[in-house]
Amino acid sequence: MEKREQLYEGKAKKVYLTDDPELYIVSYKDDATAFNGEKKGTIVGKGSINNRMTNMLMKVLEKKGVPTHFVEELNDRETLVKKVSIVPLEVIIRNISAGSFAKRFGVEEGIVFDEPTIEFSYKNDELGDPLMNAYHAIALKLATREEIETIKKMAFTVNDTLKEYFLALNIKLVDFKIEFGRLSDGTIVLADEISPDTCRLWDKDTNEKLDKDRFRRDLGGTEEAYQEVMRRLMGE
Ligand code: TMP
Repeated sequence: MEKREQLYEGKAKKVYLTDDPELYIVSYKDDATAFNGEKKGTIVGKGSINNRMTNMLMKVLEKKGVPTHFVEELNDRETLVKKVSIVPLEVIIRNISAGSFAKRFGVEEGIVFDEPTIEFSYKNDELGDPLMNAYHAIALKLATREEIETIKKMAFTVNDTLKEYFLALNIKLVDFKIEFGRLSDGTIVLADEISPDTCRLWDKDTNEKLDKDRFRRDLGGTEEAYQEVMRRLMGE
């Protein structure tokens, strides 16, 4: 597969065209941002960890019947994926209160919910990714009602699968953000990444944060936390 020109550069990844019009190459960077790009930094080794972790989890999810954009890991930082157009929604599932949920509703972090919650944000940096509901997404033609139903179902399957998977590694899956894309024929597939950038992961026994909150909140030990998750996932 030949890598052609860069199509797009985001905050954490670059996307390249290939000689196959239906395939892209994603390249993961060590760059980290938070608060809509206001805070910038580097998490050394993050690109490689996020790439390998995402691919591993996408393979697990495929086995559970969740279609994904994953095709083949090319090297430490780069992966061949199916071409999609991203549905401009950040789909957030929460199992335990934390982050913007705790802030918005004035509750402490760590409340375990009886049932997971789902929410959508409009993927739009200029507007600061505002929260929206399914009706807003349909009104703005970001997705159809049928697509929203498919996305919701897949998101809860992702949660059930990953929650169990992480628990076996002594990690609580507190919350996470995923994104979906449309293949050329309109099929909805899981896209983007699943990594400590996009999940809150707490050690089951100590509640130690093993994710990007260490960077967002200047807790220190960010690289070590990413490595620890990788070690538990891969036995590295
Ligand atoms: P929040 O509590 O800040 O809304 O974050 C919920 C989850 O979404 C958390 O696991 C981190 C992830 N997330 C992203 O992946 N990208 C983002 O831009 C934000 C704000 C959160």
